[in-house]
Amino acid sequence: MLNSIPRHDELVQSAAAAGQAHIFKFYDSLSDADKRHLDLQAAAIDWDLIARLISDVVLKPEPFTLPNNIEPAPYFSYLPADAAMRDHYTLAKQRGVTLLREGKIAAFVVAGGQGTRLGWPGPKGTFPATPIKKKPLFQCFVEYIRAMEARHHTTIPFYIMTSTVNHGATVDFFKKHQYFSMPESQIMFFSQDMLPAVGFDGKVLLESPCSMALSPNGHGGSLLALHKSGALSDMRRRGVTQISYFQVDNPIVRCIDPLFIGLHDLHEADMSSKMLPKAFGKEKLGNFCLVDGKIVVIEYSDLPGELAEARLPDGQLKFRAGSIALHAIRRSFVEQLNAHGFALPYHRAEKKVPHIDLNSGEIINPAKPNAVKMETFVFDALPLAQQSIIYETDRLDEFAPIKNSEGVDSPASAADIITRRNANWLDSAHIKTPRKPDGSPDAVIELSASFAIYPEDVADKYTRVPEIQPGTQVYLE
Ligand code: UD1
Repeated sequence: MLNSIPRHDELVQSAAAAGQAHIFKFYDSLSDADKRHLDLQAAAIDWDLIARLISDVVLKPEPFTLPNNIEPAPYFSYLPADAAMRDHYTLAKQRGVTLLREGKIAAFVVAGGQGTRLGWPGPKGTFPATPIKKKPLFQCFVEYIRAMEARHHTTIPFYIMTSTVNHGATVDFFKKHQYFSMPESQIMFFSQDMLPAVGFDGKVLLESPCSMALSPNGHGGSLLALHKSGALSDMRRRGVTQISYFQVDNPIVRCIDPLFIGLHDLHEADMSSKMLPKAFGKEKLGNFCLVDGKIVVIEYSDLPGELAEARLPDGQLKFRAGSIALHAIRRSFVEQLNAHGFALPYHRAEKKVPHIDLNSGEIINPAKPNAVKMETFVFDALPLAQQSIIYETDRLDEFAPIKNSEGVDSPASAADIITRRNANWLDSAHIKTPRKPDGSPDAVIELSASFAIYPEDVADKYTRVPEIQPGTQVYLE
């Protein structure tokens, strides 16, 4: 929030110039505290940007046009294809480990989203995600980072982007849990910017007489927030050169993967991404594509069915590289973007946004979408990079997203993936896990990051694993 803000009449003028003077309709009847609240909100808004977005994104939205020369993006496969590539991966992993040991890698989670689909009444990172211990997502990340630190005798600073909808609750949660044993000085919380929801008539909506209906400006806002918050300067001070970016919704994410970061660094890439092969053509993952030599992500909703389903002669999907929203980003790339000014495209999402009626002051809960929310996406920075690489990962090893309250990508599906992953890891170390007739594990198995973060970690710990009885729960740390 701003400490000193323009005078109220100047704020009214700026909002009016963008055609939005109505946000102050109830101003005279507000308490002093509520007046200040609304003034602060208005002062934090870039009204020129709002005027442009209302014209270009709300009132006259350009339909998405698919580039006519899109090709599948090339990628490094999960396992090296030949001896030369094996050597290359070995070198890359060594590079990643060296960067880690030298304290040059930071972990960065984007946790500013509203998480509405999950229906959890708090920051999504506080959601109890693991099958037995019900560890919150944030704890999973801290434990992974701490395990990496212990393994490589290093310190990994952890940056957490929130938004005004969840900042206080996120910080309080970490405090309440003593930062899950990570030194507080290693963690930096900062908020992204907010944007108002705009009705289809081009008018910013009020959620109450003293508040606009605001929502975070998309995870693309992280590239600006890293700069504005001082996080980039903090990284520079600590000697961090690479940022390992991940989303808040995946309890088994490899918050930092030396091989991936090492490949990215060896290839002098500015921004790189992990992919996994889509399970089927129209799976709801962004698609990595190549357009004019640049890597771009085309959202599943924008890739036409015939391309999403297209197959190569060998039967594989032509556009198979799905985005799991894991990126390695060079700090200097984010600095350059901010130094020279950059603009990511704004994406339009039609949403149901509760708001107050300007005439009656009554709250309206719309039954169908009534407003546009505008967001930027971090992957739209990929084409701004001089160089990018994509590395394939294994779905079972690191993708158990929690997005919906039930069904696909839910807490139940994530718990199932975690147990299956862990059972496979134990099996690969010749530790027998009970199986049901269909081959799925007949026990719930949770491994802490201190126990294993790679399948091979299990091999030297088999003496610590008790015999697993069918139908039981086993937690190993
Ligand atoms: C996202 C990707 C999709 C990818 C999938 C993998 C987009 C548009 N799509 O979908 O390509 O295949 O994940 O799981 O990103 N966030 C913020 N601030 C915001 C908005 C979001 O920090 O303003 C954070 C959320 O807290 C979350 C992440 O960004 O950590 C993803 O946001 P969400 O909108 O849930 O994206 P998905 O639809 O899951």
